[in-house]
Amino acid sequence: MKTASFGAVNRAAAGAAGASSGGKTVMITGVSKGLGRALALELAKRGHTIIGCSRAQDKLNSLQSELSSDHNNHHLLLIADVRSNSSVEELARAVIEKKGVPDIIVNNAGTINRNNKIWEVPEEEFDAVIDTNVKGIANVLRHFIPLMLPNKQGIIVNFSSGWGRSGAALVAPYCASKWAVEV
Ligand SMILES: NC(=O)c1ccc[n+]([C@@H]2O[C@H](COP(=O)([O-])OP(=O)(O)OC[C@H]3O[C@@H](n4cnc5c(N)ncnc54)[C@H](OP(=O)(O)O)[C@@H]3O)[C@@H](O)[C@H]2O)c1
Repeated sequence: MKTASFGAVNRAAAGAAGASSGGKTVMITGVSKGLGRALALELAKRGHTIIGCSRAQDKLNSLQSELSSDHNNHHLLLIADVRSNSSVEELARAVIEKKGVPDIIVNNAGTINRNNKIWEVPEEEFDAVIDTNVKGIANVLRHFIPLMLPNKQGIIVNFSSGWGRSGAALVAPYCASKWAVEV
């Protein structure tokens, strides 16, 4: 099994996208908008099956319609909150039942605190950053790696950031969370 950080996502996606026969099953957390949504649409266009999760049902519905516009209905989008161990456990159960073990997992779901001096970052915002960016990835690894191990293959891409490798004063919680992803 190979794990990788942000810099490797393009290579992993390119590897998946370049599969000559038979698409890969790619699970992407945080698929409702931004990079996760863009990645889902692009990989689906290239013939891969998308399993996606995020918290907003309306945005998942909108993505599902877009994914299905080519009459391709084999993608699976589910509500899950990566901050919650039990929510990810339930996600893993549903994924295994409906799609089997993913070939690739992209831990993309993430959040950033509003620019603020460290002592002025509200507690709940600090918690959201750590719970999503650090513990969220750990929750996914906890419930999916045991499913992948028997196959002795799989790729996991954990999204870090440039701020996982350098500091920035007003986003210290985010930097700390992405440094955690790096180690
Ligand atoms: N954009 C950049 O310039 C940049 C640069 C470096 C690294 N990154 C990293 O790349 C990743 C994606 O960034 P982005 O800019 O595309 O973010 P974004 O537009 O804010 O999207 C974040 C996604 O994560 C989901 N999400 C947030 N909290 C979640 C939770 N608790 N459970 C499940 N899903 C959750 C959101 O959906 P819901 O809110 O609907 O749940 C959304 O789909 C992040 O890890 C970010 O740190 C981004």
